[in-house]
Amino acid sequence: MGKTIIKDKLNRPLHDLRISVIDRCNFRCQYCMPAEQFGPDFQFLPRSALLTYEEIDRLAKIFVRLGVEKIRLTGGEPLLRRDLPILISRLSNIEGLLDLALTTNGVLLPKLADKLKEAGLKRVNISLDTLDDELFGEINGRGIGTGPVLEGIHAAKQAGLGIKINMVVKKGLNHSEIIPMAEYCKTHGLELRYIEYMDVGSTNGWKMDDVVTKKQIYDILKDHFELEPVGPAYFGEVAKLYRYKDTEVNVGFITSVSESFCSSCTRARLSANGQIYTCLFNGNGHDVRNFMRNGATDEQIEERITAIWNGRDDRYSDERTAETNRKRKKIEMSYIGG
Ligand code: GTP
Ligand code: 5AD
Ligand code: SF4
Ligand code: SF4
Repeated sequence: MGKTIIKDKLNRPLHDLRISVIDRCNFRCQYCMPAEQFGPDFQFLPRSALLTYEEIDRLAKIFVRLGVEKIRLTGGEPLLRRDLPILISRLSNIEGLLDLALTTNGVLLPKLADKLKEAGLKRVNISLDTLDDELFGEINGRGIGTGPVLEGIHAAKQAGLGIKINMVVKKGLNHSEIIPMAEYCKTHGLELRYIEYMDVGSTNGWKMDDVVTKKQIYDILKDHFELEPVGPAYFGEVAKLYRYKDTEVNVGFITSVSESFCSSCTRARLSANGQIYTCLFNGNGHDVRNFMRNGATDEQIEERITAIWNGRDDRYSDERTAETNRKRKKIEMSYIGG
């Protein structure tokens, strides 16, 4: 079947789909799922609420017909979903899908990297915010040191997966790790992206004061390294990239707070329980799970997704102010996977 390119109200095409496969995580990162809020009594989604692999595959095929070329699996922690390689292998067979990636905290990669690669996964983005064991344990809320993540990075490399490292920078927490992380990633040939701490959800207690901006990070980096700008790898790439002079290694910035990028935002998000979100900062999703379970045909689902995308005018980061941050009801990041 042919491809249709659909556009939203601001003329942005649909290009990327981020699919959360599970809302649980084995970490409790302060900036995402703080342990005080996501304690032992927290009610995660029951299994029956989650989309099955057949349902995800069916929706993914429809999304690809509507222009999606890139799918990223997220969570919670996507590697906690049982038999994930089975889903990867289905998705990797979708004609017209050019990129298939996963965002993970990395700790299950030693067990799964080979299987994921064999199933057709192309690359992984691994979160690591510091190289300091004690600080890392504090950030992930579970006292887990960096060892398991570093082993995960190694396993991904051995398996031949592409790798990027994500570091969320929060003032007073890990900004002293900016240079050590750069050194580590440069030495190991890994692309590091510094991420401005965002006001996702309503549990992380975000304050504008906590944000370390791209400019501040860049100013620290440029005293240590010679950097040259590099253009985006594809339209709508969220990271602004640089390269260490005389190397092949990139370093990037994700500037959702200081330089928003909504005008080129081509991402739709599908939550683990089958709701479509057209922005990371939406409060409400659009149901497709029940629609599908009630017998909708592929054509009807395609029409629904088209209508949702055509009606989209989100540009939260462009409009963010202290006021909108406080007033808006937002979905938790652990729920739709960032
Ligand atoms: P690639 O460029 O394909 O490697 O991936 P990515 O950077 O889009 O995905 P990843 O899951 O690694 O996300 C990195 C950071 O970018 C996370 O903090 C995300 O929350 C953030 N991010 C990704 N997409 C968006 C977006 O559409 N809006 C905003 N505001 N942040 C985003
Ligand atoms: N701000 C920015 N990035 C965040 N992430 C989690 N919480 C936040 C936040 N509040 C990052 C994770 C992961 C990616 C999906 O989003 O570190 O790398
Ligand atoms: Fe888990 Fe990732 Fe959120 Fe940390 S940032 S709690 S690893 S989903
Ligand atoms: Fe896209 Fe919303 Fe992020 Fe803007 S804030 S880039 S519209 S997801």
